[in-house]
Amino acid sequence: MDPPAIRSAMPRVLFLDQSGDLGGAELSLLDIARHFRAAATVALLGDGPFARRLRADAVPVELVAGGGRLAVRREDGPAAWLAALGAVGTIVPRLVGLCRRHELIYANTQKAFVLGAVAALLSRRPLIWHLRDILTSEHFGRANLRLVISLSRLAAARVIANSDATAAAFVAAGGDRRRLVTIPNGIDPAPWCPLAPDRRARLRQELGLRADPVVGIFGRLAAWKGQHVLVEALRALPDVQCLVVGDPLFGEEPYRERLVRRIDELGLSERVRLCGFRADIPAVMQACDMIVHASTAAEPFGRVIVEAMLADRPVIASDAGGAREIVEDGASGILVPPGDADQLAAAIGRILEDRELAARLATGGRARALAQFGLTRTLGRIALVVSEVAAAAAGERDVSAAERGGPTWKRS
Ligand code: UDP
Ligand code: GLC
Repeated sequence: MDPPAIRSAMPRVLFLDQSGDLGGAELSLLDIARHFRAAATVALLGDGPFARRLRADAVPVELVAGGGRLAVRREDGPAAWLAALGAVGTIVPRLVGLCRRHELIYANTQKAFVLGAVAALLSRRPLIWHLRDILTSEHFGRANLRLVISLSRLAAARVIANSDATAAAFVAAGGDRRRLVTIPNGIDPAPWCPLAPDRRARLRQELGLRADPVVGIFGRLAAWKGQHVLVEALRALPDVQCLVVGDPLFGEEPYRERLVRRIDELGLSERVRLCGFRADIPAVMQACDMIVHASTAAEPFGRVIVEAMLADRPVIASDAGGAREIVEDGASGILVPPGDADQLAAAIGRILEDRELAARLATGGRARALAQFGLTRTLGRIALVVSEVAAAAAGERDVSAAERGGPTWKRS
């Protein structure tokens, strides 16, 4: 259900995202854009499943990436942006045109933020940056960090961080604390209704799972998401099966190949199933007996953790970043040190042996997800930031028009 806030004066928002694929940032934006769709457009640099989901939900989509590919990675810096000037030169004018038809820009990813910041400055529109990455030099080139931090000071009216860990890294990298607000992701609990036992049994069969316990890991296949850590942990857990759900999304195909090779080397191919991307996550999560989050680096937020809690399954998560803000160790899940296959195996073993513990963690997790990470509250908080930024910009325009003695610009 949408929150009632600001329905009466929905600002015209131009959302901007670099990906046509469905990662967590895009699934989160899907919920936000749906909420604003009466007056919003989503501009994307690439077509694909994300664009299709938006269109299916009646959210207007504009593809802004002409022919040239924008080959800038997070490790890169201004030099890569200079090399990509051809593509940037096509995209920015299109964006400026779109910006002028909207009241504010809402950038959802890094590349989108850089391009959106330039377009926002040129079109004199305010910009909100939804920051979903932990900005450290471990993951981002120093020059890239400097670029986005400087641009945030120049062009971002507000920065929304998806966790306190993301917010702290932004400030440590030189970001302005006064523009920052932390709004954790919210997940709509409606699709997480209990799966009937016969449907569960059928789904397990379809997925090639036997009666033995199943540990699931959900998310795109990527080295830092740590699917390999769970595979290593299985060596100490005879009879335990593992379901790996997700595809490589952003150039991580070689990781999938390495993972499959390692599963073969360890003789685990009978016990580990890779089922690729699934659109029925609530059902597939409930087909598992427990769910593991194994990121080896600090997870900025980790939607899959909250989803696993909603699925009423015990969760084990990596003790770092946003995961720590979601799971209370021993009450709503178990936290283990990132990258430690032995401790992960021990935690899985404890939950399998102790049914009472498993039930307590599942119940505690679901209660916490419902109480703290609901979608309605998140959308309400985002709507408030959006309306404040739009109102401040409209106020500034009114004042400067009045100072010039001309007609004031009114929001419709
Ligand atoms: N997901 C999905 N199908 C899959 C694997 C993952 O729909 O096969 C979704 C998952 O339900 C979650 C999102 O992808 O909502 C991943 O978000 P998360 O924040 O956990 O990680 P990210 O990929 O954004 O780093
Ligand atoms: C990013 C992060 C992930 C977070 C998601 C939604 O993709 O990697 O941790 O949950 O954004 O904010």
